[in-house]
Amino acid sequence: MLQKPRGTRDFLPDEMAQRRAAEAKMRDAAGRWGYGEVCTPTFEHIELFTMRSGENIRQEMYTFEDKGGRQMTLRPEVTASVARMFVNEGRSIPKPVRWYYVADCFRYERPQKGRYRQFWQFGVELIGADSAAADAEVIMVADDLLRSVGLDYDLKVGFLAPMKHLLAGVDPALQRQVMGYLDKRDLEGLAACLQSCGQADLESSLSGLVSCADPEEAFEICGEIPEADRIRGIFSVLEGEEIEYAVNFGIARGLDYYTGMVFEGFAHNLGAENQVVGGGNYRLAHLFGGEDTASCGFAIGFDRVMVSLGEIEAPRPPVVAVLAPAEMQVHAFAVAREIRAAGVRAEVNLLERGIGAQLSHAAKGADYACIVGKREAEAGTVTLKDLHAGEQREMTVASAIAEVTGSGAR
Ligand code: HAM
Repeated sequence: MLQKPRGTRDFLPDEMAQRRAAEAKMRDAAGRWGYGEVCTPTFEHIELFTMRSGENIRQEMYTFEDKGGRQMTLRPEVTASVARMFVNEGRSIPKPVRWYYVADCFRYERPQKGRYRQFWQFGVELIGADSAAADAEVIMVADDLLRSVGLDYDLKVGFLAPMKHLLAGVDPALQRQVMGYLDKRDLEGLAACLQSCGQADLESSLSGLVSCADPEEAFEICGEIPEADRIRGIFSVLEGEEIEYAVNFGIARGLDYYTGMVFEGFAHNLGAENQVVGGGNYRLAHLFGGEDTASCGFAIGFDRVMVSLGEIEAPRPPVVAVLAPAEMQVHAFAVAREIRAAGVRAEVNLLERGIGAQLSHAAKGADYACIVGKREAEAGTVTLKDLHAGEQREMTVASAIAEVTGSGAR
C-alpha cells in the first residue's frame, strides 16, 4: 500500500470541518481589523528565499529545477512572497497595505507532533506603516486571532535593538551565533560560546537582557538607544489596550530578516513544538526591486493551534438521505434538487438495494431519510423519516424541507 510522504497528513471531512471552523473565526477577526485576503504561488524562484530568510530556512527548502532549467522552491514561508507581490502589484495601492493569507508551507524538518513538512500558516502583513502604533496593531491582531478560536497562550514581545546594541562591536558571524543561543534560551551554550571567543564580558549583560521584565530595565543595561521611544510607544499601546504579554528582549527569531520589534506566542498545553505564532518588523521590498518599505507581520502555525484546541465543535448542518427504489431514482434526483435549492444537504442513495437496506445505510450518517416510492411519486409527496426519533410521515417536499430546517410543525 502506498503511503503519504513523511511529515504530511491526510484530513478526513470531520477534521476538515473543524479546521475550517477555526479558520473562519480567524478570517472574521482579520477582516474586522481591515485586513484583506491575498494568495501567492505555492512555488517561487529560489532567490526569493535565499536573499534574506536565513541559513536555517535555506537548508530546509524543497528545491527543484523546472523543465526550463530554473531553480525553484516550494514556499517555506509566505512573507517574502507577499513582499514580492507588494513590489509587483502594490505600488498604486494606498498605504498602509493590510493583507492576510492562509497558505501551506513546506520545510524539510524532522517531523514530530506539531512539526510537519507541509503545514499551514495564517499570516498577516502590514506594509508601509512605520510607527509604534503599527507595531502594536500587528501584535494585537495576532492576539485577537488566537483569542478568537479560544487558544490559551503566552505572548512575549521584544525588540532586537537592545541586543544588537550590545553586540555592535562583535563579528557578524558570532552575532548570529549569539542570537541563536538567545533565541533557544540556551544560556549555558551562550556562556561557552562567548568564553571561547574571548567575549565573556558580554555574558552578564546579555543574560541580564533576557530576564528584563520591562523596557526601562533593558535601557539600564544597553543605555538609552535611539529606538527607546519606539519601544516605549509599543508597550504603552499594549498596556492601554489591556493586552496580556511579557517583555522579552531575548527573542531573536529564526529568520534573518527582522529589524526591530519581534514577538512570539506559546500555547500552554503543547510540548516542545509550542510556538504558535512568530512575527515582527522587517524590510524586504527594496531587495525585490521596490522602495525600502517598513513592514510588520506575523504567521500563526495553524496546525499547532488545532493540536492545542483538540476536538472542537464544528457546525454540522442536517443531512437528508433521499431514498428510492432503483426504477424511481430519477425522482430521487428531482426531490434532492429541490431540497438542495432550499440550502439543505441532500444525498441521493447510489447503492442499488431495497428500501430497507437503504434506510439502514442512511441511518449511519444522515439525520433524515426522504423516501420517494411509487405511491409518493404519483401523489407528488415524500415520506420523511426522522432517523434519530424514528418517526415518519408522508408530506409535500416543501413541508419536508420546513421540517428539516426546523420551521415546520412536526
Ligand atoms: P516562523 O516563526 O518561521 O515565521 O513560522 C511561524 C509559525 O509557523 C511558527 O511559530 C510555528 O507555529 C509555525 N511553524 C513553523 N514551522 C512549522 C512546522 N514545520 N510545522 C508546523 N508549524 C510550523 C515565519 O514563517 C514568518 N514568515 C512570520 C512572519 C510574518 N514574520 C513577519 N511576517
